[in-house]
Amino acid sequence: MHVADRPTIGIFGAGKVGTALARLLVGSGYDVVMAGSPRQTALALLVSVVAPGARVGTPDELVAQADVIIVAVPFGKAASVPWSEFGGRIVVDAMNYWPPVDGHIVEVDADERSTSEIMAARNPEARLVKSLNHVGYHEMEDDSMDAGSPLRRAMAVVGDDPDARAVLARIIDDLGFDPVDGGPLANGRALEPGHPAFGRELSADELRALVAPGVHVAA
Ligand SMILES: NC(=O)c1ccc[n+]([C@@H]2O[C@H](COP(=O)([O-])OP(=O)(O)OC[C@H]3O[C@@H](n4cnc5c(N)ncnc54)[C@H](OP(=O)(O)O)[C@@H]3O)[C@@H](O)[C@H]2O)c1
Repeated sequence: MHVADRPTIGIFGAGKVGTALARLLVGSGYDVVMAGSPRQTALALLVSVVAPGARVGTPDELVAQADVIIVAVPFGKAASVPWSEFGGRIVVDAMNYWPPVDGHIVEVDADERSTSEIMAARNPEARLVKSLNHVGYHEMEDDSMDAGSPLRRAMAVVGDDPDARAVLARIIDDLGFDPVDGGPLANGRALEPGHPAFGRELSADELRALVAPGVHVAA
């Protein structure tokens, strides 16, 4: 059941990550609306089975209804998401540049910015954070634990808007992970594939140390 003080969450991408997040969010009382790829003709049926309680909408409906927008599509398909329509909303970049799936994108390989800084440039007005990307989709549910559990795993949020980071921190806590405020978006490099925090089971203290500036040494 939707809990009144929770923001409505829109998710672009009803794949492995999008549906895992939808299940956890619905379970925590969030109103969730999902938009899939135009190729997913039976999306409402799929979502009713794999993420019951989540709603399906068009991209326009999602943008109109969501307070927080999660982008969980393949990185190479990011351009198909309507970034310019997001206005000043909180946008979560959950994507990873993953050449085995995305191929090598010459412009990205040559770009010194973190991939989320590249995404943020698609809509400078949006309050973009990078989060939810450094934990495997299967672990999101398997490793979700109640607050205070001694083995609770951490998840980081970085972004240039402190209020947006705080909103995400609450969502991360509700997902069952200890939130770590990693500071500005540029710190997100540490959360990317090939960098120390990616895919590792870390406590909040361990993760905080890795996302802190100055320790972004490639693994
Ligand atoms: N897998 C993980 O454990 C994991 C963990 C954290 C983050 N991530 C990142 O999260 C993103 C999604 O990963 P995934 O494993 O969930 O991929 P996935 O299972 O392939 O799901 C992505 C879904 O997004 C759809 N899509 C493509 N363009 C879209 C658009 N414009 N609007 C809405 N949906 C669209 C795809 O449809 P089509 O197939 O028709 O294109 C596909 O159904 C990737 O960037 C990945 O690197 C993955």
